[in-house]
Amino acid sequence: MDYQTQYQEYKALADAALNTYFTDTTVSYHRLLEAMHYSLTAGGKRLRPVLVLAFCAACGGDVRAALPVACAVEMVHTYSLIHDDLPCMDNDDLRRGKPTNHVVYGECTATLAGDALQAEAFHTILSTELPADVRAECARLLAEAAGENGICGGQQLDMEGEGKVLTKEELMDINDRKTSAMIHAACLMGVTCGGGNAQQRAAAAQYAKALGLAFQIRDDMLDVISTEAELGKPIGSDAREGKNTFMALYGLERCGAYVHELSEQAAAAVDSVFADSAFLQQFARSLADRKN
Ligand code: IPE
Ligand code: IPE
Ligand code: MG
Ligand code: MG
Ligand code: MG
Repeated sequence: MDYQTQYQEYKALADAALNTYFTDTTVSYHRLLEAMHYSLTAGGKRLRPVLVLAFCAACGGDVRAALPVACAVEMVHTYSLIHDDLPCMDNDDLRRGKPTNHVVYGECTATLAGDALQAEAFHTILSTELPADVRAECARLLAEAAGENGICGGQQLDMEGEGKVLTKEELMDINDRKTSAMIHAACLMGVTCGGGNAQQRAAAAQYAKALGLAFQIRDDMLDVISTEAELGKPIGSDAREGKNTFMALYGLERCGAYVHELSEQAAAAVDSVFADSAFLQQFARSLADRKN
């Protein structure tokens, strides 16, 4: 199967599964569920669920059994986007080509939708039929990525850095937490679901580190060079908020070269460690030139 077909197949699995969550219209608090469902199904590339499924497959595991874990990663990611867009954070009104959650449902409901999505992610993992040790390890990995040492710590530093000039090391530290941590969790959860060995775990971690950084640098580039129509979110948001980005630090050309270098590092990290690493390698390379 070629790369694009495989990617679309993983994405379709994730999309179909995600569509089944938070659909009860009969409960008294159904507006909260509607808000959760709205952002969860608003679109998105589903990169993190695809990574869970692809690493599971690369380890010879059962992709369908890993599907709830893939959905859980996307729930935490979606929560982080809802909160990231709030007026008190990046103050953006477009996400995945649609009005942001708080624009549609108001700030209070959007905040609660994010809170609930985060908790439901753990509920989802812990309710699967995967072996108890696999569930526990996946929940631990996700908690680590979402917590103080991951997204929240990164978002704190991102906010504190607004309007200041940070060093490359400080910027890397922010990106490692706010973005790479979740990519790391997705890769390692895939290996965990697939029953991968220690060497495969180490390779997945190396892959995630390079890919996570490349991914955020490309995100910073797109905030400058893309269009709102293509990106599905506002452009120029970083400059408006006085964010520290790799674009501000290095400029377009060096960023582009760095993203390509990191993608090759990611591809090399998984070479010969899995029975078939072609998909993972193509995935890393395709993100280097992504347009949205
Ligand atoms: C955007 O993530 C937020 C960052 C971590 C840079 P994605 O670019 O994966 O967003 P979606 O899920 O496709 O909307
Ligand atoms: C956000 O980074 C990373 C998250 C933890 C959500 P950005 O603020 O650059 O993400 P976008 O550009 O709004 O998607
Ligand atoms: Mg942000
Ligand atoms: Mg943002
Ligand atoms: Mg951005």
